[in-house]
Amino acid sequence: MNDNLHQLRCFGCGARIDGAEAQPDFRCALCGDLFEVEYPGWGQRRGNDRPNPGALKWLWRERRCSSEALDQSGVWRFRELLPILQNFGNVVTLREGNTPLYHLPRTAKALGIDQIFAKHQGMNPTGSFKDTGMTAAMSVALERGFQWVACASTGNTSAAMAAYAARAGLRSLVLIPEGKIAWGKLSQAMDYGAVTCQLPVDFDGCLRLLTEIVKEAPIYLLNSVNPYRLEGQKTPAFEIAEAFDWNVPDHVIVPGGNLGNSSALGKGFRELHELGLIARMPRISVIQAEGANPLVRSFAASQGATLEPVEAHTRATAIRIGNPASWRKATRAIQDTGGWCLDVTEAEIAVAKAELGAEGLGCEPASAVTLAGLKKLHARGVVAPGETVVLVLTGHTLKDADYTIDFHRGTLLKEEETVGMEAKIDSLRRNAVAVEATPAAVLATLKGRA
Ligand code: F0G
Repeated sequence: MNDNLHQLRCFGCGARIDGAEAQPDFRCALCGDLFEVEYPGWGQRRGNDRPNPGALKWLWRERRCSSEALDQSGVWRFRELLPILQNFGNVVTLREGNTPLYHLPRTAKALGIDQIFAKHQGMNPTGSFKDTGMTAAMSVALERGFQWVACASTGNTSAAMAAYAARAGLRSLVLIPEGKIAWGKLSQAMDYGAVTCQLPVDFDGCLRLLTEIVKEAPIYLLNSVNPYRLEGQKTPAFEIAEAFDWNVPDHVIVPGGNLGNSSALGKGFRELHELGLIARMPRISVIQAEGANPLVRSFAASQGATLEPVEAHTRATAIRIGNPASWRKATRAIQDTGGWCLDVTEAEIAVAKAELGAEGLGCEPASAVTLAGLKKLHARGVVAPGETVVLVLTGHTLKDADYTIDFHRGTLLKEEETVGMEAKIDSLRRNAVAVEATPAAVLATLKGRA
């Protein structure tokens, strides 16, 4: 299935262009919407010429035993389904993907749902799901001869971009909202050598500005408006399907920020379905923070037909986004699969994050919206006890250690945010205690903590 012929199809008007013809901002010249990568060769194959699902599944699994960098990548071992390069020798990889799928027995028991799993994308090389998209789009940047790449970011995209650019020998430019990203992420961009500009605007403002900049200079835009990012980010869908022996779970729940990730997972499952590798698609639900919920509002107001940007506020800074670029694509993923879109409060996010921590996993705040959202869906009675649910944890817990420490010290949330949840929060807090340096004093702290 080496149809190394892809094209870009406009999500809005359906116009088709060659990959190299895309404008620097990846917007359609005719209608301004975003593009999606399409592989016309797949549809043209009939009968015996169709890919053999059994052979592909065997090959993908077999590659995990290979010592080749390309095979060791959890993105590129599926390269038959992302033939976006002229030459796979241009791949820039940090052996991303192949992330663990953890069972959450305590959470499952507490909710009365049989099977809850976490697909931990925070276990990627730079600590977030962005690596799977970055390996794909950075490889395209290298193949097309760019010397500079750039992104606007709430932190994780910039960390991933800076690392992959450094590996590729390219220079990178990062635009971030001043004071609104977690230190761990900022430190990564610095360490990997990016030129980092902190701007007195929000993420949406950074992305708007960058869109103007790339029209004036030969800089390759690596935000998720770049359709090649989503090609890499669709591969966790393949890993999830593979982990369930190609019988997909009932429900996959993802956080929603700029809405590239939910779009990509939707595309991944759809392609597996169209190619006959899976028999059905899982529901895909998108969860936003209450203060950064433009898609939730869009569903309430117009069933996802129109979207009004909002001014975004949430301590889950990764998803502090008011004008998500890929909202139409995410809407399709939710509607095609019968999923839901809802929002959760700051206290619900903090509690869910602590509960995931107590399962020994941990994640950054934006990832915890998935569990908070599942609890809400369960309370509404729309998730049946016998279902299998996968939460996509998008970032590593060490990305935002300040948030975690503030929670456990009791300084994260305001009193009015925790009304009705005080007991729950108290039961989860594990602040460090100052103790005298004697065995008796240390042992005394264990009393009452069976
Ligand atoms: N979770 C984390 C940890 C993120 O960093 C992001 C987005 C999301 C969820 C939301 O994903 O945007 O595809 O809907 N972070 C971007 C960044 C915007 O710049 O790092 P999305």
